[in-house]
Amino acid sequence: MKRVAQVLAFIMAVAMAIPAVAKGETKMSIFGKTADGVPVPIYTLTSGQIEVRVMAYGAHLVSVKAPDRTGKLADVVLGYDSLQGYLADNKTYLGGIVGRYGNRIAGGKFTIDGKTYQIPLNDGPNALHGGPKGFNQYVWQSKEIPDGVEFTLVSPDGDMGFPGALTSTVRYTLKGSSLRIDYTATTDKATVLNLTNHAYFNLHGDDQGNILDQKMEIAADRFTPVDKTLIPTSELAPVAGTPLDFTKPEVIGARIGADNQQLKIAGGYDHNWVLNGKIGTLHLAAIVTDPVSGRKLTVETTEPGVQFYSGNFLDGSFTGRHGVKYEKHSGLCLETQHFPDSPNHPDFPSTLLRPGETMHSTTTLTFGVVK
Ligand code: GLA
Repeated sequence: MKRVAQVLAFIMAVAMAIPAVAKGETKMSIFGKTADGVPVPIYTLTSGQIEVRVMAYGAHLVSVKAPDRTGKLADVVLGYDSLQGYLADNKTYLGGIVGRYGNRIAGGKFTIDGKTYQIPLNDGPNALHGGPKGFNQYVWQSKEIPDGVEFTLVSPDGDMGFPGALTSTVRYTLKGSSLRIDYTATTDKATVLNLTNHAYFNLHGDDQGNILDQKMEIAADRFTPVDKTLIPTSELAPVAGTPLDFTKPEVIGARIGADNQQLKIAGGYDHNWVLNGKIGTLHLAAIVTDPVSGRKLTVETTEPGVQFYSGNFLDGSFTGRHGVKYEKHSGLCLETQHFPDSPNHPDFPSTLLRPGETMHSTTTLTFGVVK
């Protein structure tokens, strides 16, 4: 009898020592202050399965702790230890919400109702992720909502050259092992927008090498080929027979160095896939699996496209959590979105928003394991 009690006590002690994720809670603290002294709240969302941190600066997804096949947690999103890290990085968009227009606009120029607008260029001849000061660089208003947090940003008329005062909200909610991101926006003048999250995932863990041995599946038969400045040519080209075919799970590193013009232009994968699902209803975008840890990420979205970016421009110049330098392919992005440069491609799904309309889009990130 005594022996049984000893064994039970031992099991209890072990169970209590394992750092379990707390259940269904949101906790707020201050992550740091901006250079102007504005305090930046950070929220920890827990569900029992995973733990997520999001903050008001840039409405960033700061971290996601998810279990491997043995239950061991690792942070699977790249990030910095302190707010300072985010303030000092105007290049990688690590976990930030990109906007007003995520991805590229050719020449930074577009026309609405006969009037041409110019966004300052910040990517060679193009505007990238909303221009030099995008939505990832503002402190958003924040408030707790059931199961999560809502961030709001009002971008004034003329901000980065875009017409119309645009009110955007991004809601992060966590249920079970699924993190849902809801975007809404309204404007007081016709404008264009493309909001997405720019998190870099590494299912091995944020300090565990690169993503090249992980498997990718993308629910797309076509992609938008790009010119040498990464602007779509307007064509929707089949992926079949190319290294961009991820209709079945493929090891990311297997074909990344293939003799393919599109991969050479981008230095790896940095393209928009045309998702097979219907715009406006939640459909599969991509599934990433890590054969080593068993972790699996399923991305679903209401958006027509996903930019799979294999972290080609990470070059060791930024040091993330655990003192790890983020090198090429340390993480991968799955930016659910409308297609790049849509304002200049009338055949692409429209990114135009008019007064009285509400833009609404949803993306879910679901974490699981494979055997
Ligand atoms: C997006 C772009 C990339 C790169 C990154 C940020 O993914 O498509 O080309 O600009 O953002 O480094």
